[in-house]
Amino acid sequence: MEVQQLNKSQSDWLEDEAFFTALRAREYQRLDHPLHQVYFDYTGGNLYPASLVEKHCEMMLQGVFGNPHSINPTSAKATEMVEAARAKVLSFFNASDYYCVFTQNASGALKIVGESYPFGADTPFVLLSDNHNSVNGIREFCQQKGGNTHYVPVRHEDLRIDETVLKTALEEHAGKGNRLFAMPAQSNVSGVKHGLEWIAYAQEKGFDVLLDAAAFVPTSRLDLKQVQPEFVSLSFYKIFGYPTGLGCLLIKKTAFEKLCKPWFAGGTVDVASVCYPFHTLEEGHERFEDGTINYLNIPALKWGLEFIESIGIERIQKRINQLTAYLLHHLSTLKHKNGTPVLQILGPKDTQQRGGTIIMTFHREDGSMILFEDIEKAAVQKGISLRTGCFCNPGLDEINSQISGADLEAFYRSKNFKVQYHEMLYYKDKVRGATRISVGIATVEKDIQVLLDFIRHYFQL
Ligand SMILES: Cc1ncc(COP(=O)(O)O)c(C=O)c1O
Repeated sequence: MEVQQLNKSQSDWLEDEAFFTALRAREYQRLDHPLHQVYFDYTGGNLYPASLVEKHCEMMLQGVFGNPHSINPTSAKATEMVEAARAKVLSFFNASDYYCVFTQNASGALKIVGESYPFGADTPFVLLSDNHNSVNGIREFCQQKGGNTHYVPVRHEDLRIDETVLKTALEEHAGKGNRLFAMPAQSNVSGVKHGLEWIAYAQEKGFDVLLDAAAFVPTSRLDLKQVQPEFVSLSFYKIFGYPTGLGCLLIKKTAFEKLCKPWFAGGTVDVASVCYPFHTLEEGHERFEDGTINYLNIPALKWGLEFIESIGIERIQKRINQLTAYLLHHLSTLKHKNGTPVLQILGPKDTQQRGGTIIMTFHREDGSMILFEDIEKAAVQKGISLRTGCFCNPGLDEINSQISGADLEAFYRSKNFKVQYHEMLYYKDKVRGATRISVGIATVEKDIQVLLDFIRHYFQL
């Protein structure tokens, strides 16, 4: 949808406003009464529906649950509920070819891949420069084992993959043997959906693929029969807000034996002995679930996913697309008295292949940039939750700020490699970072009006 070409009334923009306003009143009323919060950080964390918390509370107050994996009744009940949640996760993602390993969050899932992937001398690890730090950090495991990390930059103009550049990188490192390609299904900063067709493309070149789906799955369908990356990471609080502290790693069964767990722990071994040091690891998901799992919270995942299904992920996706189009359109109309734009949107300015995350920088009439910290402080005064900075994705910020590896090396050297966050932000007199606004399931039109009024007021438009 081309944002600029549309000339619609508000109800045409947001076709499903009545449904989502009713949903907000039912499940997210606390935003309005008594709290009066205007929430624009769904990419940071989703909001939980009241009914999910109530259901979980009822389970806790009426049940008795013991540590799973024993036949005693309280343990058996806990096991049954955990396994029901696991089955739900697998069916939600149409993932019968996968194991579902529960983790603390997406980062925990990524760490399992990092520490267990059989990197060795010269193993290539290819990844987009647009990745969360929890993916970037895998390069440390790769390098410790003698592997080589290769970043593939996204384009400066729209923050999307440059097909030629990515194809060249994958071809250059193609071959047999271990090689890993990591990409986010959706950028946590620009909202760009990077195109799941790259999974099969990289696999044809011999790569195992790690798909970081954390920012994608809250508002898009991931069907693991349609695409089959070897590894998928996600956090559940980003999909339905509650409970925090749970994510999962989906491991394609055919790639399971490729991961070499570097240690063993309670719950992960079938046999372990002490006076003769020997152990054998469990066969399925248990191999990677160290110690006691979060057995009181995991059952809530089933109801969280059922809540999403009760609305329909396609309906959510369409809604997010419309909210994003509406927001992009109105943001683009904000101009200073001299006609210069108040803000610059970084990345795509339309709603093609993107989610509901938008980043921008704010500017004075003379074009100079306003510190994002000032914007955030002013937003706080109005009860608006938005996010600013570099969003744990330094690669994308380096592209936006047009900073090269050589620039950074010179800078780090000049500081004797002792650099703090704020020094990075004001690197070479250039202000880095941006403001991120993300919409979600509980966003309604009046939130967007509050945001627009805030900007108009701030700039005295
Ligand atoms: C794309 C992406 N990957 C990974 C993560 C890390 O998720 P968590 O902090 O839940 O481990 C995030 C969090 O914002 C993310 O957006």
